[in-house]
Amino acid sequence: MYQKYIKESEQSRLSMMIKKYVFGNPYETGATVLPVEPAGGIPERFRFAAETGTFSYTLKEKDLVFGLGETVRGINKRGWIYVSNNADDPEHNENRISLYASQNFLLVDDGTECFGVFVDNPGSVTFDIGYTDPDVLSIHPEYNDTSFYVIEGETPAGIVGTFRELIGKSYVPPVWAFGYGQSRWGYKTAEDIREVAAGYKALGIPLDMIYMDIDYMQDFKDFTVNPERFPEFADFVREMKAEGIRLIPIIDAGVKMETGYDVYEEGKAKGYFCKKENGEDLVAAVWPGKVHFPDFLNREASDWFGDQYQVLTDAGIEGFWNDMNEPAIFYTEDHLKEVFAQIKEFEQKELDIWGFFEFKDVVGSIANHPEDYRRFYHKFHGQKVRHDKVHNLYGFYMTKSAAESFARNCPEKKILLFSRASYTGMHRYGGVWTGDNCSRWSHLLMNIQMMPGLNMNGFLYSGADIGGFGGNTTEDLMLRWVAFGIFTPLFRNHSALGTREQELYRFERKEDFKHLIELRYALIPYIYREFLKAAETNGMYMMPLWFAYREDERCREVEDQLLVGDALMIAPVYEQNKTGRYVYLPESMRMLRFRAYNDYDSEVLPAGDHYVKAALNEVLVFLRPGCELPLATPARHVEQIDEKQLTRIIFAKP
Ligand code: GLC
Repeated sequence: MYQKYIKESEQSRLSMMIKKYVFGNPYETGATVLPVEPAGGIPERFRFAAETGTFSYTLKEKDLVFGLGETVRGINKRGWIYVSNNADDPEHNENRISLYASQNFLLVDDGTECFGVFVDNPGSVTFDIGYTDPDVLSIHPEYNDTSFYVIEGETPAGIVGTFRELIGKSYVPPVWAFGYGQSRWGYKTAEDIREVAAGYKALGIPLDMIYMDIDYMQDFKDFTVNPERFPEFADFVREMKAEGIRLIPIIDAGVKMETGYDVYEEGKAKGYFCKKENGEDLVAAVWPGKVHFPDFLNREASDWFGDQYQVLTDAGIEGFWNDMNEPAIFYTEDHLKEVFAQIKEFEQKELDIWGFFEFKDVVGSIANHPEDYRRFYHKFHGQKVRHDKVHNLYGFYMTKSAAESFARNCPEKKILLFSRASYTGMHRYGGVWTGDNCSRWSHLLMNIQMMPGLNMNGFLYSGADIGGFGGNTTEDLMLRWVAFGIFTPLFRNHSALGTREQELYRFERKEDFKHLIELRYALIPYIYREFLKAAETNGMYMMPLWFAYREDERCREVEDQLLVGDALMIAPVYEQNKTGRYVYLPESMRMLRFRAYNDYDSEVLPAGDHYVKAALNEVLVFLRPGCELPLATPARHVEQIDEKQLTRIIFAKP
């Protein structure tokens, strides 16, 4: 009875805080878990232009806008335009409007009044946050079948908490997934992987995971292992595990078309691939060459694809990364035919310079062509739905398919799972990595600035390719990136084929890298505890300073320091040739300048601005008043950390 009363009063509390407005016939996306009765009319605070389907809100002078997860630019999103339209685009410069993810939650706060907005629409949605008109936030879904939520609350953190109740609890990976992982596109054989493991072991640098990129497969076919390069795969998985290392293979969305390949044959026979208008399976090309895309939005196809992971879990695999699931399309067979026809036409013409550019555009825009996303269909909740209308769900449903199959097929195991493409709701099934960044200082800053938005949207287990995926890294960038990465839950060094090798043991300053990774392992009891707390309480593991110090106007503009859990603030160095940086302290804190987990300076700094030295091998950590930082003795693998033997650094309230 009492519980029922609590439930009812809880529900009425939530219904006061969450207002849902329905336009058109929204798809059941699976983003939310709480039932909310729709209110009538137009979302509070917004104007709605029915003729264009645009919602707009007049931004107050002091309004800050947070959220949108994995997007370019600063923590405050004001001043740019963002389009939720999952895109396979490795050029993450600040003019980009779409990356791999669509996390449609925003929070507006002027310091006295705040509210949240969640736009549940799986098609393309444009968020113009003061780009067209500096004082107007406008939201325009391409197809206005939308559930539009407005979330009320007194504080930004409170609103995030309410939103997260709406969308459900975040995925929690196994504890070993908080260790350090080494990845590279280009480890081709078991021997290559043994070498990586040995490289780390020789220097005693902790390591928990080695990632396997597409080269482990037979001709890039999902759920196959190349038997020449990885003979006796299950034995190899066991051998590495005995070394304390888990192998984490990649799975791509596209299934190679190849007669005799069982996944292809079965998917085709059962009609599980995405079809064109004429009922034929869409032929696209990705790494394996020609592929079909499984229809993850179709319940049966999703269960079927999910079951395929069992080949690898049976071989002892305990983690996966799902890739190319926007889906990335290098070309479709149909579009290529059209392009060839157009090229023939161009050939007949006397091209002037504009004609030449037109020709160049036709050829240069083949990959991920917008038309291709309108060529195929899903069977979603029993209805035929054109892909572009639900585009942003594809990676989410691929990851859901895997997670549900693990729950079904190996419930006793905890599996690591993260994805490149995502949509709000996927955070219940897995984490994300932020895709193909580059070895650039600006991308280290972007990594720092993306984390709070990801956390707001529930993606707690997240991180970037440390050191940068594309381009050649440098030792100093790597040191600084690792020094930040030790705080991100997903902590993985990954790089692209053909780039400079960036396994930490290859650099000159091996000891420094060892100390940094050991510091991560010393911090794991804290990181894990704070992560679990955020997952349990719908809180944020990484937060902008503003959320905790809203009475301090200076914190509005702090874009390069973060709160990590309840006890810490970090201030990473993210510029080249710097031996320190300016740090703003909203209150007195104990600064810890770590060179190693057991070698650090400690100094109490008053509130205010400080210039703080931080050499390339040093990590700045600030302990908030009344807090303590537990530190473990690092071990080579997470599961060997003795959580009972902790040293505590304390900063009593002055
Ligand atoms: C994509 C992924 C990248 C991977 C590569 C090859 O670009 O984002 O992480 O290494 O494909 O599989």
